[in-house]
Amino acid sequence: MVKKYTFGKIFETYAVVADIAEDKSLQYFSVTPIGAALKFEYVLDSEDAVYGLGETVGAINKRGEQYISFNTDEVNHTPTTKSLYGSHNFIVVDGKQKFGAFFDTPSKVFFDIDVENSGKIEVTVESGNVRLYIVEGDSAENVVKNFLTIIGQGYVPPLWAFGYGQSRWGYKTESDIRRVVQGYRKAGIPLDYVCMDIDYMDGFADFTVDKRRFPDLKGFAIEMKQSGVRLVPIIDAGVKIKEGYSVYEEGVANDYFCKRADGKPFRVAVWPGTTHFPDFTKEEVRDWFGSQYKALTDCGIEGFWNDMNEPSIFYSEFTEPQTNQQKETAEPNHEQEALSNAYKDYKNFYHDVDGKLVCHYDLHNIYGYFMTMSAGEQLKKLVPNRYFLFSRSSYIGAHRYGGIWTGDNKSTWEHLKMNIRQMPSLNMCGFLFSGADTGGFGGDTTRELLLRWLAFSVFTPLMRNHTAIRTKKQECYAFNGKKDFKNIISLRYRLLPYIYSEYVKAVLKNDMYFKPLSFVYSNDATVKNIEDQLLVGDSIMIAPITDEGATSRKVYLPEDMTEVRYRNGQFECVAKQKGQYIVNVPLNEVVFYIRSGKLVPTCKGADCVERINLEEITLLGDGTTYEQYIDDGATYEINEKNVKILSK
Ligand code: GLC
Repeated sequence: MVKKYTFGKIFETYAVVADIAEDKSLQYFSVTPIGAALKFEYVLDSEDAVYGLGETVGAINKRGEQYISFNTDEVNHTPTTKSLYGSHNFIVVDGKQKFGAFFDTPSKVFFDIDVENSGKIEVTVESGNVRLYIVEGDSAENVVKNFLTIIGQGYVPPLWAFGYGQSRWGYKTESDIRRVVQGYRKAGIPLDYVCMDIDYMDGFADFTVDKRRFPDLKGFAIEMKQSGVRLVPIIDAGVKIKEGYSVYEEGVANDYFCKRADGKPFRVAVWPGTTHFPDFTKEEVRDWFGSQYKALTDCGIEGFWNDMNEPSIFYSEFTEPQTNQQKETAEPNHEQEALSNAYKDYKNFYHDVDGKLVCHYDLHNIYGYFMTMSAGEQLKKLVPNRYFLFSRSSYIGAHRYGGIWTGDNKSTWEHLKMNIRQMPSLNMCGFLFSGADTGGFGGDTTRELLLRWLAFSVFTPLMRNHTAIRTKKQECYAFNGKKDFKNIISLRYRLLPYIYSEYVKAVLKNDMYFKPLSFVYSNDATVKNIEDQLLVGDSIMIAPITDEGATSRKVYLPEDMTEVRYRNGQFECVAKQKGQYIVNVPLNEVVFYIRSGKLVPTCKGADCVERINLEEITLLGDGTTYEQYIDDGATYEINEKNVKILSK
């Protein structure tokens, strides 16, 4: 079912957890050395679709494009950008031949997929060092299942993390956060967590708290929890260089930081000014950095987001800052960050691998993943119940330790469309707990865009509204007609029994939570090119509105389905036959579809997850039974036995 081939010298990524014997006779691909690099080629059939590649732009079917796996802080990405924050080197060929290929290497990889109608998949591994896994299966869906099986069970966050979260780069004090919570509660819009961006820290130094802004974080966390809201602080990769700062001093004393060629710690500017990068490739450093989260878990914090871990570099001691503003970094300016990422610095520093210096450039793509591993392994010890964690940068394997968000997107309709296409591709690579910055990060959102985006994010496991500094307000209560926002976000809470159950079942069965229609209706030629409708779990199909000003859209039902319209807090169900429809979707409603013979458990909802009664269920759809996964949403053990059969 899975074959493994090793080329060159391997750096262990721990992406694959299954024990797979080495094979010699390479299938499907031919391989040619080009200097140090290796080029793998597969001749495509004209009908083949090519899926996978996780966090990438463009279509779900990757044919015709080039993608480059090289983790990049790309704040200005567009539909043609080649590299984003994560590298997920798994592709699926779906045609007469069906198989998957995972190129497991921390170095740069080029994926040319039928570019300029070459008729080939050409995968170039720059370093020439790679483990290639060939995964078989009788359908694209089963190829993915077999792949998800070998990379190990995915992360399951606490139940509250399936609630709605509000974030903004710019909340500075506890009163800022209190105001957000009050705003949501007063408007009756559900809310489960508020993210704390870099301003909570003392001088942007990890694991510190600015006491003037948060005089009693522990007391504040308790106060927030009483209103059903958790605090989720950010942690950045770079450790601020500052005398008397214990994390910096311990790191230097123990030789825990990435080095220059001469062995001295490498200095690089990020938000805190000058920093050192922890050498996450060393287990001892991972344990040490991860244990620092204790400073915050001791204050009752149970969730974190890890950022700037590609790692993002503004400039270093080897590269000049481009503006005076960056030199000061007192008031970070995000637009300049994009201009200034000093990618050439990836060749200027080193990791200490078993006493030998290895250039960062060659290990680049696993840096964020190993930071997530560092946090995840220690948070499991520090947080009594399930921890919440999501990261910006990632590599396959990180899915076992936390979720990811899709980085700095924009408040545009194009980015909403991109978000929809990214979700199934991410799922193919193991990243089930993911979502985008709902409403968009860069630029000003509009009421219409935010409502439409929320109507999609209702279905994404990570549902967080986040925006950049200096953008217009993006909290739902800041807009006119708050009732409309309440209606849409409430749907998330009413569907929570389904969303949680389908999520955990997918994790347990090594399955995807979001699927393209072509994975399920593989014999229906019509669905082959439909990329703006998705399956969510086993029962639901969605067809979100993604165009400005649109009040209706074309929807294809590949089988008879129940159309469910969520309007004014009520579910209205109508049986529909297979076929094409034009469906009206007013801005304050969500329409979704339940597959024939399937059910969806719904509940009454609440203003936060812990106030939901998951036992009081109403079933929608024309099926007869539903297998509900239900547990306390907190303890670490995820067990197949926690499945209850619900019947209509
Ligand atoms: C990065 C993150 C963004 C965050 C900002 C400030 O751009 O991607 O989410 O708000 O840094 O910390």
